[in-house]
Amino acid sequence: MARIDTENINREREPSGSAAGSATVPAQPATKSLGSRAQGTVATLLRAQNVHRLLGSGDTVTHILKGVSLVVDRMEYMSIVGPSGSGKSTLLYLLGGLDRPNRGDDEGKPFSPPSAVFIDGENTHDLTDAQLAVVRNEKIGFIFQFHYLLKEFTAQENVALPMFKLGRWSRDECLKRAAGLLDQFSLSSKLKRRANRLSGGEQQRVAIARALANEPAVLLADEPTGNLDRKNTEIVADIFNSLAARGQTIVMVTHDQALAQRARRMITMEDGTIVSDRVLA
Ligand SMILES: Nc1ncnc2c1ncn2[C@@H]1O[C@H](COP(=O)(O)OP(=O)(O)O)[C@@H](O)[C@H]1O
Ligand SMILES: [Mg+2]
Repeated sequence: MARIDTENINREREPSGSAAGSATVPAQPATKSLGSRAQGTVATLLRAQNVHRLLGSGDTVTHILKGVSLVVDRMEYMSIVGPSGSGKSTLLYLLGGLDRPNRGDDEGKPFSPPSAVFIDGENTHDLTDAQLAVVRNEKIGFIFQFHYLLKEFTAQENVALPMFKLGRWSRDECLKRAAGLLDQFSLSSKLKRRANRLSGGEQQRVAIARALANEPAVLLADEPTGNLDRKNTEIVADIFNSLAARGQTIVMVTHDQALAQRARRMITMEDGTIVSDRVLA
């Protein structure tokens, strides 16, 4: 069975921004100490600093995230749980650079400390939309509840597309790598099948392979099993566990308690804030 090139997963990078701390310190393994998370270390991959998000305008402006601070270290496997509407997806999209935090409140008064998200040391406020898109394609793998595959394209093409865009490998190499990823998820017989002719469980496995296409530093999943039956939920849970065991950093939003418990750290959100942050056995 083909394997992901684990050498390049979570390869240590020099922090590119001052916020990530000293670049001369050798890479450290992910720490289990919650106390050290506040500052941000070389192990830090994602960092939310007093993150606020307001949506809507005028009288209908809603304060969705109310000062969330969170550090995700390399090689962490974290779940985020909490009631519907508590801000889980909003936080995940901010951590992945799909959205940016608000700098100030509805009257423009800046938050203190500044409301910001750092991806691998880079403040998303400092990047243009195009630069942020490059960071996302290189470093973040997204998995959503609905797979968003291109239905007219084959499984293999769907997985190869982010690689074509990245331009790191030749076209043939991209297709070969896509086949290798799909093979890991028992889809080698479905490479040439159009996405809309795959089952729901198969489609979600293709979406996971696509998220891994560019060897992302972190996999961000939003209710990845929300649309799957028990059996396929188990398959996806097992995939996440084996990826985590190989050192893949994962942040997963889920309302499935059993799935959430399989992570190594669990964050609970309520009404736009983090109310608990626990290391799981
Ligand atoms: N574009 C928007 N405009 C106004 N409110 C929004 C918008 N998007 C989301 N919300 C609200 O923000 C809150 C948090 O949403 P979300 O992050 O999706 O929560 P969760 O993922 O925890 O269910 C919800 O109350 C939702 O209705
Ligand atoms: Mg959500």
